Amino acid sequence: MIVLRPRRLRRSDVVRALVREHRVAIEQLVQPIFVSERPEDAGPIDAMPGMSRFDIAAAVEYAREIFGLGVRSVLIFGIPAAKDAAATGSYAPDGVVQQAIRALKRELPELLVMADLCACEYTDHGHCGILDERGDVANDATVELLSRIAVSYAEAGADLVAPSDMMDGRVGAIRAALDRQRYTDVAIMAYSAKYASAFYGPFRDAAGSAPQFGDRRAYQMDPSNAREALREIALDIEQGADIVMIKPGLPYLDILRAARRRFDVPIAVYNVSGEYAMLQGAIERGWLDGQRAVDELLSCFVRAGADIVITYFAAEYARRHA
Ligand code: PBG
Repeated sequence: MIVLRPRRLRRSDVVRALVREHRVAIEQLVQPIFVSERPEDAGPIDAMPGMSRFDIAAAVEYAREIFGLGVRSVLIFGIPAAKDAAATGSYAPDGVVQQAIRALKRELPELLVMADLCACEYTDHGHCGILDERGDVANDATVELLSRIAVSYAEAGADLVAPSDMMDGRVGAIRAALDRQRYTDVAIMAYSAKYASAFYGPFRDAAGSAPQFGDRRAYQMDPSNAREALREIALDIEQGADIVMIKPGLPYLDILRAARRRFDVPIAVYNVSGEYAMLQGAIERGWLDGQRAVDELLSCFVRAGADIVITYFAAEYARRHA
């Protein structure tokens, strides 16, 4: 009897690289960027060591630097100067995201500018939409608001809008609104399977978007559900999503895998703020080898089936591998 020896193909770097099944390409990574309207809101984000909020000029410089390293896509989040119940700052022609998009496209025309599309950074109550008289997020009124924001992002020059609100029917409505204004080339990356997750905590700190009462469980998905994620993704594809997303990433690799098996559209995964904070916290204390942990993490997303990885580690990964 011969002994079957898989270890033969693990003996050296060369042979391991030869038989490697998946590779992470820098150009499949997306770097999220937080942009503050008021320069005094810029600065380091406590709960996300190594990440900062930028004013518009600094955001452009940062994007220029990472573009040079090969990170060619960014996802913009805005921190407005003022909030109100109807999120009027979200669709203002000179709103923070609209200004950032214009500046980025002017200075770096080849950079792919994605804009996160949600009301939570712009509402004084912190929910992802317009409230009805009972204090619930009103689906259809919110969908109208989102369509209006999408058109304002397209006017500013966004390449792609990324609705992250989890309202029903928003992808179809946004697509129709964009097409009506002849923004047929603006793509939609839908946060399709977005779970009501504790792992968004640091982001809400970064963006000042924590709900002032209640939580997001009436619109984001229950972490225990898997079949429902596939249904949400199917609905978004039917409504015209160009790219679908699973979020968070690490605790939801099974969902990513199931989606990869079922659907043929590009799939993105969002390696969210809490996952970043968890790793960075351990790396800073010397409990984890940061470079190895990040490389492993990103390759696991690709192995599980992601075409696109949205990660706060994009720039850092590119710096080491460019
Ligand atoms: C806006 C939005 C959130 C994230 C992306 N878009 C926060 C939330 O839903 O509470 C989270 C991103 C992260 O945690 O890195 N709705």
